[in-house]
Amino acid sequence: MLILGIESSCDETAAAVSENGTNILSSVISTQIEEHKKYGGVVPEIASRRHCENILGVTKKALADAGKTLEDIDAVAVTYAPGLIGALLVGVNFAKGLCLASGKPLVPVHHISGHIAANYIAHPELEPPYLCLVASGGHSHIVEVTDYTKFHVIGRTRDDAAGECFDKCARAMGFPYPGGVHIDKAAQTGNPDAFDLPRPKVTGSEYDFSFSGLKTAVINLLHNSQQKGIEINKEDLSACVQHIISEILCEKTMHAADYLGYKTVAIAGGVSANSGVRKAFEKACSERGIKLYMPPLNLCGDNGAMIACQGYYNYLAGQRGDESLNAVATLSLEEI
Ligand code: KG4
Ligand code: ZN
Repeated sequence: MLILGIESSCDETAAAVSENGTNILSSVISTQIEEHKKYGGVVPEIASRRHCENILGVTKKALADAGKTLEDIDAVAVTYAPGLIGALLVGVNFAKGLCLASGKPLVPVHHISGHIAANYIAHPELEPPYLCLVASGGHSHIVEVTDYTKFHVIGRTRDDAAGECFDKCARAMGFPYPGGVHIDKAAQTGNPDAFDLPRPKVTGSEYDFSFSGLKTAVINLLHNSQQKGIEINKEDLSACVQHIISEILCEKTMHAADYLGYKTVAIAGGVSANSGVRKAFEKACSERGIKLYMPPLNLCGDNGAMIACQGYYNYLAGQRGDESLNAVATLSLEEI
């Protein structure tokens, strides 16, 4: 079965063709990062306009690279939530148009479930149930994946997402958007014990995260040093930020895995590309005898392949969108 997957929830216009979910025949990503860099972050209206301009070309290329035409496709999967509303609307309406013109079924995909599915592409042996940390620019979730299309969110961020914290700390340090990858690079030569940064405390739910305190502490440290004319070593500060975020993400996920008895853990989302996060999970999982799954770096960030893959499982579960399918900016994984 061939699924065309379309993704436009943030600043990547992407399309891919999957065969039976995990066999990716093509994957095309058109990123807008260079343009948003000028503004230090994603400008929603610019993102929507670029999706509008690029989506047809990206989709045509995905079909051509796969050696297929629209007639060969069995269903069209599209990210409909969550994300920037104007950006999502472009993908949703484009997919609806394709389905209207071709008579193919439309399959809505929740963006976070797409990130989770990225692991099936690289590791087809991975099967639910397992525990998954999804950490991206907009989300930090600990999810029990009970089936390919059934999710139970047991932990979430109370304020900033892990990726947002990386990006805002990076911005304060003068790195370009998106800063997570720059912190990762700088951290390689830094001392993770150079600064005493706060570990946010979260009361109420032991699996919830909070990253805004860490972000504020980093911004204050940089401002105070600037006022005093003291130069802050960016490598050291990057190493400290990366170390704390990695530790928090890993500790909470391991705590949940221990308590709930999971012997299989996965990580997903843009932040799962971070070398510190990957090392922390590798160490903690090997100490506990937990089997760890991580997407390859090219499947950590937003892409169409993960949407085509999850679209396949949603299709098998009978999930269909009709003419009334709308984009939704905020939607829990459990509401789908
Ligand atoms: O999953 P994603 O591509 O988009 C969202 O759904 O949000 O995640 C993007 C986030 C950004 O915050 C970016 O800085 C972060 O993932 N990111 C990283 C790394 N690569 C991407 N953060 C830390 N280290 C990295 N190597
Ligand atoms: Zn994403």
